[in-house]
Amino acid sequence: MRNTQKLLAFLVVGFFMLSMNWSKNTQISLEKKTVAQTDSTIKYDEATGLVVSEGLELVVAHCTGCHSSKLITQFHTDRQGWLEKIRWMQQKQKLWDLGEAEPKILDYLSKNYPPTEKVNRRVSLKNIKWYKL
Ligand code: HEC
Repeated sequence: MRNTQKLLAFLVVGFFMLSMNWSKNTQISLEKKTVAQTDSTIKYDEATGLVVSEGLELVVAHCTGCHSSKLITQFHTDRQGWLEKIRWMQQKQKLWDLGEAEPKILDYLSKNYPPTEKVNRRVSLKNIKWYKL
């Protein structure tokens, strides 16, 4: 009889310690999560999904009239690449002269959407919403 009691007590203590350890672990993983969330300092514009950064207003004004901003956010290239893209749209897609806004738009694009390895591995976008011209 005594042995059974001992065994029971042992089990209870063991269980208690296990659950303590379990809650400790979950606490740690919860902490990690919060850290990861507060870690990302990049903010995204709610309406367009574009990175909030200097020049955003210009990009919204000049670049989201014809097509979804997704076309921009999925594209990554350097300043020269962005310039070529703009020139191409000006020649083929009736994009207007960006004037003084052009260097600022290029600053924004090359800073926030620079070339990345990921872009090649990314699956191509589906269901792009087109705006009526
Ligand atoms: C006058 C209309 C118009 C405006 C304004 C416009 N675009 Fe475009 N853009 C287009 C069209 C049309 C396409 C789609 C071409 C296609 O489907 O091949 C396009 C495609 C794109 C693409 C995808 C290119 C690719 O090869 O995948 C990017 C990136 C892009 N535009 C960026 C911009 C940026 C940045 C601006 C602002 C400077 C802008 N667009 C303004 C008409 C426009």
